[in-house]
Amino acid sequence: MQIRVLNPCSILLFVAALATTFGSGVATAQNPATQNGAAAQTADRPWMNPQLSPEDRADLVLKQLTLDEKIALLHGNGMAHTPNWQTPLTDLANGGAGYVEGVKRLGIPGLVISDAAYGVRDSGANGRYSTALPSSLGAASSWDIVSACAYGAVIGSELRAQGFNMTLGGGVDLAREPRDGRTFEYAGEDPLLAGTIVGNLMKCEQAQHVVGDIKHYAMNDQETGRNFVNAIISKRGMQESDLLAFHIGISIADPGAVMCSYNRLNGDHACENSYLLHDVLKTQWDFKGFVDSDWGGTHSTEKASAAGLDQEQPMGNHFGPKLREAVDAGRVRLSQIDDHARRVLYAEFLSGIVDDPPQKGVVDVQKGLDVAQHVEENSIVLLKNRGSVLPIVPARVRSIAIIGGHADVGMISGGGSAQVDPPGGNAIMPPGKGASRWQEHVWFPTSPLAALRDKLPHTKITFDPGTDPSSAAKLARNSDLAIVFAYQWESEGMDLPNLSLSDNQDALIEQVAAANPHTVVVLETGSAVTMPWVDKVAGVVEAWYGGSSGHKALANVLVGDVNPSGKLAITFPKSDQDLPHPVIPPLPPHVRAHGADPVNPDTPVASYSVSYTEGAEVGYKWYQTEHKTPLFPFGFGLSYTTFAYSALTIDSSARTARFTVRNTGTRAGTEIAQVYATLPQGSDESWERLAGFARITLAPGKSQTVTVAIDPRVLQTFRESDESWNLASGAYKILVGPSSSNTPLTGSLMIQ
Ligand code: BGC
Repeated sequence: MQIRVLNPCSILLFVAALATTFGSGVATAQNPATQNGAAAQTADRPWMNPQLSPEDRADLVLKQLTLDEKIALLHGNGMAHTPNWQTPLTDLANGGAGYVEGVKRLGIPGLVISDAAYGVRDSGANGRYSTALPSSLGAASSWDIVSACAYGAVIGSELRAQGFNMTLGGGVDLAREPRDGRTFEYAGEDPLLAGTIVGNLMKCEQAQHVVGDIKHYAMNDQETGRNFVNAIISKRGMQESDLLAFHIGISIADPGAVMCSYNRLNGDHACENSYLLHDVLKTQWDFKGFVDSDWGGTHSTEKASAAGLDQEQPMGNHFGPKLREAVDAGRVRLSQIDDHARRVLYAEFLSGIVDDPPQKGVVDVQKGLDVAQHVEENSIVLLKNRGSVLPIVPARVRSIAIIGGHADVGMISGGGSAQVDPPGGNAIMPPGKGASRWQEHVWFPTSPLAALRDKLPHTKITFDPGTDPSSAAKLARNSDLAIVFAYQWESEGMDLPNLSLSDNQDALIEQVAAANPHTVVVLETGSAVTMPWVDKVAGVVEAWYGGSSGHKALANVLVGDVNPSGKLAITFPKSDQDLPHPVIPPLPPHVRAHGADPVNPDTPVASYSVSYTEGAEVGYKWYQTEHKTPLFPFGFGLSYTTFAYSALTIDSSARTARFTVRNTGTRAGTEIAQVYATLPQGSDESWERLAGFARITLAPGKSQTVTVAIDPRVLQTFRESDESWNLASGAYKILVGPSSSNTPLTGSLMIQ
């Protein structure tokens, strides 16, 4: 049988199925009475006719608006739960991140906005419930657009059930700096993989009728000094890396909004950077939606408006009365205001929130938990499995020591504005605490210990907290198998000092492994970690931040009810020294001492910058160029079965790679086959570029021939002199295999 990856038809069918599953009330599914009402409405409100295009509908509304009504669309009105961001309208934010006034007299709803990176934020403070999906980096490690779509659909439906009609999710900044504290919110280091996963996630989220959003545009690749750091990078370097991820994501999702980021880029803040907003996003990519600033990321009125910022969030400090004054004084043209307002209206019509406003309701909790489990089962990466220590075979393993990581009570999650509140509160805090605080370590009450006991009722399973490594080692010595749970906690607003496990966990693992050769380490991390103990343990499982059903998914993988299939969306280096930047540049001393610019917090600290001299050599491309062998390469992941690759043929005119994958083991399993390309001779680069991939599920002994489209967008090079893309002619080497460092099949693609 032959399959083609990224098949748009199958995606559409799946999205249609999801729309039914999640009960999205699309305009075409309204009952006759509502339709009559709608017909009456369109007589005096022609923009209410859903047959018209979003562009036409936006234009019709725009003609009706006063200048003040237009300007009201261009700024927020405060943020819930944030004392210094309050206005008389903030209550209308519904407990969320923001509220933008609509035009009630014309039937244009306000934007009711919530953060929702891996689930709807602040459900604790708002007395609500939301599902936590696995972290985005985990979902990217599934390389599965169907999982990504289901992920987005759950979030979209839960936003609507809470009364929100706009999401703030869709982080697609590349993991160029793996110590970035938001790495878990993003989708890894490769533009094609990250853009494809986030694009499908956001497409399906917006299909639930919420305004979609992709962020943080752009080069927001570290949190240190994020409000003023000047990211310095060549145009070619950013176009072929981070911007390419955004472009792919935006072209798949067609989101209503793109959020510009806090940092500066080559001198100008991203939210007043005309190259980023006007030249690239709106002109080169023809983005029709609106640009909203990150919260507090607007720094000017005229400059930002001219550069292409459409909406200030969460207040109207620059795009409220000051914008009106600038128009009245002739410093900002009315046509510019019209363009901003039209874009906001367009996004409202495009996303369906005008025709189908959210209805508050009770979410389908079980459905969310099932999707979270399925995504996590596809995301877990088996990194090491010496002597087939996994899956656990109860007949051979009579006793298991579970050690560390609060595995008796739960699993850790990522912090900051992405934080989803766990039902019942933080598993390691006293009961009754509903809401979580900013940058608190939050453990979901998803106990791997309990989940394993459920799966293995006849096995003796004992827990040791791991706080005293010698007591943990003693338990391990007296058990058939030891599983150490290790975590790396991350949050917005801070970076990791390095990629080492904190809290003495390396020493704990060393001592347990010395006591029992059958030691498996389960990692709950937001990014890559270094593993000085890797040669001493038998197994390593990367579970990322597992979400609301992480314990069940993990237990299924550990006992073999699910065969792991995830592959790394980020390289794990041997040491921080192997990264393009051995350390994140330290903040200037006066900022370190005072926490912000003490004189004027809005003044950029001009001297603080980071130079991304590696350009587009992000992740595996960097290690390949530098001839550095990573600990675990991009695209790597094991299975409980084995696969063999054969018979590569390249069709140069169709630009496809065709090859056969065979399951050579004894279990059913899913392989993620990867297609890489190197540019023709004479190019100035030596690294490979991921050009396509396919997930293939095979019964034991079975094989499948697949045809993978080679994506021309990732083969092009960007010419700075005339801002053009060039697909060089010549022979491209095509490499196919199970990871970026193992490509047994090679062929050649000719481009004339
Ligand atoms: C974050 C955004 C977030 C916004 C609203 C900012 O601090 O960078 O990702 O959407 O706050 O909470």
